[in-house]
Amino acid sequence: MTGVTGQLGGRVARRLAAAGITQTMIARHPRRAPRLPRARVMPGNYGDRTAMRRALTGVERVLLVSATATPDRVAQQGEFLRAAQDAGVGLVVYVSFCTPWPEATFVHGRDHWWTEQHLAGSGIPHIILRNNFYAEFVGRDLTDGRAAIRGPAEDGRVAAVALDDIAEAATNILTGVSGQAGATYTLTGPAAVGLDEVADAASTACGRRVSYRPETLRQAYRARDGAGPARQVEAWVSTYRAIAAGEMAAVTDHVARLTGRPATPLAEAVSCLAA
Ligand SMILES: NC(=O)c1ccc[n+]([C@@H]2O[C@H](COP(=O)([O-])OP(=O)(O)OC[C@H]3O[C@@H](n4cnc5c(N)ncnc54)[C@H](OP(=O)(O)O)[C@@H]3O)[C@@H](O)[C@H]2O)c1
Repeated sequence: MTGVTGQLGGRVARRLAAAGITQTMIARHPRRAPRLPRARVMPGNYGDRTAMRRALTGVERVLLVSATATPDRVAQQGEFLRAAQDAGVGLVVYVSFCTPWPEATFVHGRDHWWTEQHLAGSGIPHIILRNNFYAEFVGRDLTDGRAAIRGPAEDGRVAAVALDDIAEAATNILTGVSGQAGATYTLTGPAAVGLDEVADAASTACGRRVSYRPETLRQAYRARDGAGPARQVEAWVSTYRAIAAGEMAAVTDHVARLTGRPATPLAEAVSCLAA
Protein backbone atom coordinates (compact mmCIF):
# COMPACT_ATOMS: atom_id res chain seq x y z
CA MET A 1 0.00 0.00 0.00
CA THR A 2 1.18 3.49 -0.81
CA GLY A 3 -0.32 6.89 -0.01
CA VAL A 4 -1.56 5.59 3.37
CA THR A 5 -1.19 9.01 5.01
CA GLY A 6 -3.53 10.47 2.38
CA GLN A 7 -7.23 10.41 1.62
CA LEU A 8 -7.40 7.55 -0.88
CA GLY A 9 -4.59 5.28 0.31
CA GLY A 10 -5.70 5.65 3.93
CA ARG A 11 -9.19 4.50 2.99
CA VAL A 12 -7.89 1.44 1.14
CA ALA A 13 -5.43 0.52 3.93
CA ARG A 14 -8.23 0.62 6.51
CA ARG A 15 -10.46 -1.54 4.29
CA LEU A 16 -7.69 -4.10 3.81
CA ALA A 17 -7.07 -4.20 7.56
CA ALA A 18 -10.79 -4.67 8.22
CA ALA A 19 -10.76 -7.59 5.75
CA GLY A 20 -7.93 -9.23 7.69
CA ILE A 21 -5.35 -8.74 4.93
CA THR A 22 -1.65 -8.50 5.77
CA GLN A 23 -0.17 -5.37 4.25
CA THR A 24 3.03 -3.38 3.91
CA MET A 25 2.41 0.36 4.10
CA ILE A 26 5.00 2.56 2.39
CA ALA A 27 5.17 6.03 3.90
CA ARG A 28 7.53 8.99 3.58
CA HIS A 29 6.80 9.79 7.21
CA PRO A 30 6.16 6.42 8.90
CA ARG A 31 4.94 8.01 12.12
CA ARG A 32 2.01 9.51 10.19
CA ALA A 33 0.90 6.10 8.88
CA PRO A 34 -2.34 4.75 10.37
CA ARG A 35 -1.91 2.12 13.06
CA LEU A 36 -3.59 -0.97 11.70
CA PRO A 37 -3.55 -4.67 12.52
CA ARG A 38 -1.40 -6.98 10.35
CA ALA A 39 0.31 -3.93 8.83
CA ARG A 40 4.02 -3.10 8.77
CA VAL A 41 5.32 0.30 7.76
CA MET A 42 8.31 0.70 5.43
CA PRO A 43 9.83 4.18 4.97
CA GLY A 44 10.60 5.84 1.69
CA ASN A 45 9.83 8.07 -1.23
CA TYR A 46 8.73 6.65 -4.61
CA GLY A 47 11.91 8.05 -6.14
CA ASP A 48 14.16 5.99 -3.82
CA ARG A 49 14.49 2.79 -5.81
CA THR A 50 16.54 0.98 -3.16
CA ALA A 51 14.05 1.72 -0.39
CA MET A 52 11.12 0.81 -2.66
CA ARG A 53 12.75 -2.47 -3.70
CA ARG A 54 13.25 -3.32 -0.03
CA ALA A 55 9.64 -2.45 0.79
CA LEU A 56 8.21 -4.34 -2.19
CA THR A 57 10.17 -7.56 -1.80
CA GLY A 58 7.69 -10.35 -1.13
CA VAL A 59 4.69 -8.17 -2.01
CA GLU A 60 2.13 -9.81 -4.31
CA ARG A 61 0.03 -6.78 -5.26
CA VAL A 62 0.59 -3.09 -4.78
CA LEU A 63 -1.61 -0.02 -5.11
CA LEU A 64 0.45 2.88 -6.46
CA VAL A 65 -1.33 6.06 -5.41
CA SER A 66 -0.04 8.70 -7.81
CA ALA A 67 2.50 11.04 -6.24
CA THR A 68 1.89 14.65 -5.35
CA ALA A 69 2.14 16.66 -8.57
CA THR A 70 5.70 17.90 -8.28
CA PRO A 71 7.74 18.52 -11.47
CA ASP A 72 9.60 15.21 -10.92
CA ARG A 73 6.47 13.12 -10.39
CA VAL A 74 6.92 11.04 -13.56
CA ALA A 75 10.55 10.27 -12.70
CA GLN A 76 9.63 9.29 -9.13
CA GLN A 77 6.88 6.97 -10.27
CA GLY A 78 9.27 5.51 -12.86
CA GLU A 79 11.72 4.61 -10.09
CA PHE A 80 8.89 3.03 -8.12
CA LEU A 81 7.93 0.86 -11.10
CA ARG A 82 11.57 -0.16 -11.66
CA ALA A 83 11.70 -1.23 -8.00
CA ALA A 84 8.45 -3.17 -8.42
CA GLN A 85 10.00 -4.93 -11.41
CA ASP A 86 13.20 -5.68 -9.44
CA ALA A 87 11.12 -7.08 -6.57
CA GLY A 88 8.95 -9.22 -8.86
CA VAL A 89 5.65 -7.71 -7.72
CA GLY A 90 2.78 -9.69 -9.25
CA LEU A 91 0.34 -6.82 -9.88
CA VAL A 92 0.56 -3.03 -9.83
CA VAL A 93 -2.73 -1.16 -9.52
CA TYR A 94 -2.04 2.41 -10.63
CA VAL A 95 -4.19 5.38 -9.58
CA SER A 96 -4.35 7.40 -12.81
CA PHE A 97 -6.59 10.17 -14.08
CA CYS A 98 -9.45 10.03 -16.57
CA THR A 99 -7.63 12.13 -19.18
CA PRO A 100 -4.12 10.65 -19.19
CA TRP A 101 -3.14 12.38 -22.42
CA PRO A 102 -0.01 14.41 -23.19
CA GLU A 103 -2.26 17.29 -24.30
CA ALA A 104 -4.96 16.96 -21.60
CA THR A 105 -6.51 20.27 -20.65
CA PHE A 106 -6.09 19.46 -16.94
CA VAL A 107 -2.33 19.81 -16.72
CA HIS A 108 -1.86 17.24 -13.94
CA GLY A 109 -3.56 14.67 -16.18
CA ARG A 110 -0.59 14.76 -18.54
CA ASP A 111 1.92 13.06 -16.18
CA HIS A 112 -0.29 9.99 -16.01
CA TRP A 113 0.20 9.36 -19.71
CA TRP A 114 3.92 8.85 -19.17
CA THR A 115 3.42 6.52 -16.23
CA GLU A 116 0.82 4.52 -18.12
CA GLN A 117 3.31 4.21 -21.02
CA HIS A 118 5.99 3.08 -18.60
CA LEU A 119 3.65 0.43 -17.18
CA ALA A 120 2.66 -0.77 -20.64
CA GLY A 121 6.31 -1.29 -21.58
CA SER A 122 7.41 -2.76 -18.25
CA GLY A 123 5.95 -6.22 -18.55
CA ILE A 124 4.57 -5.91 -14.99
CA PRO A 125 0.98 -7.18 -14.78
CA HIS A 126 -1.10 -4.11 -14.00
CA ILE A 127 -4.55 -2.58 -13.70
CA ILE A 128 -5.17 1.12 -14.24
CA LEU A 129 -7.81 3.12 -12.41
CA ARG A 130 -8.49 6.31 -14.37
CA ASN A 131 -10.40 8.44 -11.92
CA ASN A 132 -12.50 11.51 -12.59
CA PHE A 133 -12.10 14.40 -10.15
CA TYR A 134 -13.00 13.33 -6.63
CA ALA A 135 -16.56 14.33 -5.66
CA GLU A 136 -15.14 15.55 -2.35
CA PHE A 137 -12.67 17.74 -4.26
CA VAL A 138 -15.18 19.42 -6.56
CA GLY A 139 -17.95 19.67 -3.97
CA ARG A 140 -15.86 20.76 -1.02
CA ASP A 141 -12.39 21.99 -1.93
CA LEU A 142 -13.51 24.11 -4.89
CA THR A 143 -15.84 25.94 -2.49
CA ASP A 144 -13.14 26.10 0.18
CA GLY A 145 -15.19 27.85 2.85
CA ARG A 146 -16.37 30.58 0.44
CA ALA A 147 -19.87 31.40 -0.72
CA ALA A 148 -19.17 30.63 -4.36
CA ILE A 149 -17.41 28.25 -6.71
CA ARG A 150 -15.63 30.57 -9.15
CA GLY A 151 -13.88 29.36 -12.27
CA PRO A 152 -13.88 29.30 -16.08
CA ALA A 153 -15.88 26.06 -16.36
CA GLU A 154 -18.65 27.69 -18.47
CA ASP A 155 -21.60 25.27 -18.49
CA GLY A 156 -19.40 22.17 -18.60
CA ARG A 157 -20.19 19.02 -16.65
CA VAL A 158 -18.15 16.76 -14.41
CA ALA A 159 -18.76 13.09 -13.55
CA ALA A 160 -16.97 13.36 -10.20
CA VAL A 161 -16.47 10.09 -8.31
CA ALA A 162 -16.64 9.50 -4.55
CA LEU A 163 -13.37 8.60 -2.83
CA ASP A 164 -15.06 5.70 -1.03
CA ASP A 165 -16.16 4.27 -4.38
CA ILE A 166 -12.58 4.33 -5.66
CA ALA A 167 -11.35 2.87 -2.36
CA GLU A 168 -13.86 0.02 -2.51
CA ALA A 169 -13.01 -0.72 -6.15
CA ALA A 170 -9.28 -0.71 -5.39
CA THR A 171 -9.75 -2.95 -2.35
CA ASN A 172 -11.75 -5.44 -4.39
CA ILE A 173 -9.00 -5.55 -7.00
CA LEU A 174 -6.24 -6.00 -4.42
CA THR A 175 -8.14 -8.80 -2.69
CA GLY A 176 -9.01 -10.54 -5.96
CA VAL A 177 -12.78 -9.98 -5.65
CA SER A 178 -12.97 -8.18 -9.00
CA GLY A 179 -10.79 -6.70 -11.71
CA GLN A 180 -8.93 -8.18 -14.64
CA ALA A 181 -5.15 -7.88 -15.04
CA GLY A 182 -4.40 -5.72 -18.08
CA ALA A 183 -7.69 -3.83 -17.77
CA THR A 184 -8.16 -0.09 -17.54
CA TYR A 185 -11.17 1.13 -15.57
CA THR A 186 -12.51 4.66 -15.74
CA LEU A 187 -14.12 5.45 -12.41
CA THR A 188 -16.83 8.11 -12.48
CA GLY A 189 -19.88 9.16 -10.55
CA PRO A 190 -23.34 8.06 -11.70
CA ALA A 191 -23.96 11.29 -13.66
CA ALA A 192 -22.18 14.30 -15.09
CA VAL A 193 -23.31 17.45 -13.31
CA GLY A 194 -22.81 21.17 -13.86
CA LEU A 195 -21.07 23.31 -11.26
CA ASP A 196 -24.43 24.88 -10.38
CA GLU A 197 -25.52 21.41 -9.19
CA VAL A 198 -22.22 21.01 -7.37
CA ALA A 199 -22.92 24.35 -5.64
CA ASP A 200 -26.39 23.10 -4.65
CA ALA A 201 -24.82 19.98 -3.10
CA ALA A 202 -22.30 22.16 -1.22
CA SER A 203 -25.17 24.40 -0.04
CA THR A 204 -26.99 21.43 1.42
CA ALA A 205 -23.84 20.03 3.04
CA CYS A 206 -22.82 23.38 4.57
CA GLY A 207 -26.28 24.68 5.47
CA ARG A 208 -25.64 28.01 3.72
CA ARG A 209 -25.98 29.28 0.18
CA VAL A 210 -23.13 28.40 -2.17
CA SER A 211 -23.47 29.46 -5.80
CA TYR A 212 -21.53 28.93 -9.03
CA ARG A 213 -20.10 32.11 -10.56
CA PRO A 214 -18.51 31.40 -13.95
CA GLU A 215 -15.35 33.40 -14.66
CA THR A 216 -13.79 34.29 -17.99
CA LEU A 217 -10.27 33.00 -18.50
CA ARG A 218 -8.92 36.49 -17.97
CA GLN A 219 -10.84 36.88 -14.69
CA ALA A 220 -9.63 33.45 -13.56
CA TYR A 221 -5.93 34.27 -14.02
CA ARG A 222 -6.33 37.72 -12.53
CA ALA A 223 -8.15 36.38 -9.43
CA ARG A 224 -5.38 33.82 -8.80
CA ASP A 225 -2.43 36.07 -9.66
CA GLY A 226 0.21 35.69 -6.94
CA ALA A 227 -1.80 33.10 -4.99
CA GLY A 228 0.78 30.42 -5.79
CA PRO A 229 3.58 29.45 -8.18
CA ALA A 230 2.70 29.84 -11.90
CA ARG A 231 2.55 26.04 -12.29
CA GLN A 232 -0.01 25.83 -9.47
CA VAL A 233 -2.12 28.65 -10.91
CA GLU A 234 -2.10 26.89 -14.29
CA ALA A 235 -3.29 23.67 -12.60
CA TRP A 236 -6.11 25.48 -10.76
CA VAL A 237 -7.35 27.21 -13.89
CA SER A 238 -7.04 24.04 -15.98
CA THR A 239 -9.31 22.19 -13.53
CA TYR A 240 -12.20 24.37 -14.70
CA ARG A 241 -11.05 24.51 -18.33
CA ALA A 242 -11.09 20.69 -18.48
CA ILE A 243 -14.72 20.77 -17.32
CA ALA A 244 -15.57 23.47 -19.88
CA ALA A 245 -13.87 21.43 -22.63
CA GLY A 246 -16.13 18.43 -21.90
CA GLU A 247 -13.16 16.27 -20.89
CA MET A 248 -14.63 15.40 -17.47
CA ALA A 249 -18.16 14.50 -18.56
CA ALA A 250 -17.92 10.84 -19.62
CA VAL A 251 -19.91 8.49 -17.35
CA THR A 252 -19.09 4.78 -17.03
CA ASP A 253 -20.48 1.84 -15.06
CA HIS A 254 -17.01 0.76 -13.91
CA VAL A 255 -17.61 1.54 -10.22
CA ALA A 256 -20.61 -0.79 -10.33
CA ARG A 257 -18.60 -3.42 -12.22
CA LEU A 258 -15.88 -3.42 -9.57
CA THR A 259 -18.00 -2.97 -6.44
CA GLY A 260 -21.29 -4.66 -7.38
CA ARG A 261 -23.31 -1.56 -6.45
CA PRO A 262 -24.11 1.76 -8.13
CA ALA A 263 -21.73 4.69 -7.88
CA THR A 264 -22.50 7.21 -5.13
CA PRO A 265 -24.33 10.38 -6.22
CA LEU A 266 -22.28 13.55 -5.81
CA ALA A 267 -24.66 15.06 -3.24
CA GLU A 268 -24.07 12.09 -0.92
CA ALA A 269 -20.29 12.35 -1.17
CA VAL A 270 -19.98 16.08 -0.55
CA SER A 271 -19.35 17.29 2.95
CA CYS A 272 -18.71 20.78 4.19
CA LEU A 273 -15.06 21.88 4.44
CA ALA A 274 -15.91 24.20 7.30
CA ALA A 275 -17.85 21.50 9.22
N1 LIG B 1 -8.92 13.01 -9.05
C1 LIG B 1 -8.82 14.02 -8.18
O1 LIG B 1 -9.75 14.84 -7.98
C2 LIG B 1 -7.60 14.18 -7.38
C3 LIG B 1 -7.60 15.15 -6.39
C4 LIG B 1 -6.48 15.26 -5.62
C5 LIG B 1 -5.38 14.44 -5.86
N2 LIG B 1 -5.41 13.54 -6.85
C6 LIG B 1 -4.27 12.63 -7.14
O2 LIG B 1 -4.55 11.39 -6.52
C7 LIG B 1 -3.55 11.11 -5.54
C8 LIG B 1 -4.21 10.58 -4.32
O3 LIG B 1 -5.17 11.50 -3.87
P1 LIG B 1 -5.34 11.79 -2.33
O4 LIG B 1 -6.51 12.70 -2.22
O5 LIG B 1 -5.31 10.52 -1.56
O6 LIG B 1 -4.01 12.63 -2.05
P2 LIG B 1 -3.38 12.99 -0.67
O7 LIG B 1 -4.38 12.95 0.43
O8 LIG B 1 -2.58 14.22 -0.89
O9 LIG B 1 -2.35 11.77 -0.42
C9 LIG B 1 -1.27 11.52 -1.25
C10 LIG B 1 -0.50 10.38 -0.60
O10 LIG B 1 0.58 9.98 -1.44
C11 LIG B 1 1.79 10.10 -0.70
N3 LIG B 1 2.84 10.53 -1.61
C12 LIG B 1 2.76 11.56 -2.49
N4 LIG B 1 3.89 11.67 -3.19
C13 LIG B 1 4.71 10.68 -2.73
C14 LIG B 1 6.02 10.27 -3.06
N5 LIG B 1 6.73 10.90 -4.00
N6 LIG B 1 6.56 9.20 -2.40
C15 LIG B 1 5.85 8.55 -1.43
N7 LIG B 1 4.59 8.90 -1.08
C16 LIG B 1 4.04 9.95 -1.73
C17 LIG B 1 1.52 11.15 0.37
O11 LIG B 1 2.44 11.02 1.41
P3 LIG B 1 2.82 12.27 2.38
O12 LIG B 1 1.86 12.19 3.54
O13 LIG B 1 4.22 12.00 2.76
O14 LIG B 1 2.66 13.52 1.57
C18 LIG B 1 0.10 10.76 0.75
O15 LIG B 1 0.09 9.64 1.59
C19 LIG B 1 -2.82 12.43 -5.33
O16 LIG B 1 -1.48 12.21 -4.91
C20 LIG B 1 -2.96 13.09 -6.66
O17 LIG B 1 -1.96 12.62 -7.55
C21 LIG B 1 -6.51 13.37 -7.59
